[in-house]
Amino acid sequence: MEIDRRAFIASLGGPAVVALMDHEAKAEALEHYMEEKLDEMVAAQQPEKFPTVAELQAQIETRPYRRGAGTLFTGQRGENVKILKPMPEKPTLKDFFELRFAPANHVLQSATRAMKTGMSEEIILACLLHDCVLSLIKPDHGWWGAQLFEPYIPEKSAFAIRYHQTLRFYPDEEAGYEYPDQYYRIFGHDYTPPQYIQDTYKMLKNHKWYMEPRLVTVNDLYAFDPNAKVSIEPFLDIVGRHFKQPKEGLGYDNSPSAHMWRTLARPDNPL
Ligand SMILES: [Fe+2]
Ligand SMILES: [Fe+2]
Repeated sequence: MEIDRRAFIASLGGPAVVALMDHEAKAEALEHYMEEKLDEMVAAQQPEKFPTVAELQAQIETRPYRRGAGTLFTGQRGENVKILKPMPEKPTLKDFFELRFAPANHVLQSATRAMKTGMSEEIILACLLHDCVLSLIKPDHGWWGAQLFEPYIPEKSAFAIRYHQTLRFYPDEEAGYEYPDQYYRIFGHDYTPPQYIQDTYKMLKNHKWYMEPRLVTVNDLYAFDPNAKVSIEPFLDIVGRHFKQPKEGLGYDNSPSAHMWRTLARPDNPL
């Protein structure tokens, strides 16, 4: 078994502590450390035990927020929320990416994959935008997301965003999409999608645009490369061609979703 010396020394309290230990104490600590690591390695090889729907339900009252709250509205990993930088007067999609959706790794990586695999520009755009609305709200994010972007993007891209949420629950071997482990983790391994999702799936299966949302799910990966450096820059041409940026700025053009952009711009407003 390989020993990470630095981690081992740190686990004992640092080099100064180790310097004070005699030979026997060090040998014992090393043995103990190796036993623990071995246990961890064995545990890592066990298949993951996914929660049940009832177990997830039982966690609801252990949190001061609901799981459906948008990420802008809750502290991440138990931390307090941070002061947000103000938006420019006439904000663009790029401004929202940088100031409100950031780091947006997931959508940027999905769009990067879509670009690499030669998807149409409508699909690349849909991948880039498909989960942005999670900053605002999480339940029914396909529908919310489509509504947020609909006034500004091609119909096919909005269709893909709206229905990727539904198709995530249904594998399609031919298209190369499997049911994600992440869904066993977050919905429970015994979860059945509600009736309206089942009905939407039935409708989609026979729809001429079935492949539009399906291709979003195919590119919808959690993190194919956690170290990949991604940015909005490579997508600005596609955004320029297909996203109708309002001259008044997003939020101020009186579109049906303008209020949603304003809420994203000012999530600290009490009313
Ligand atoms: Fe999604
Ligand atoms: Fe996603």
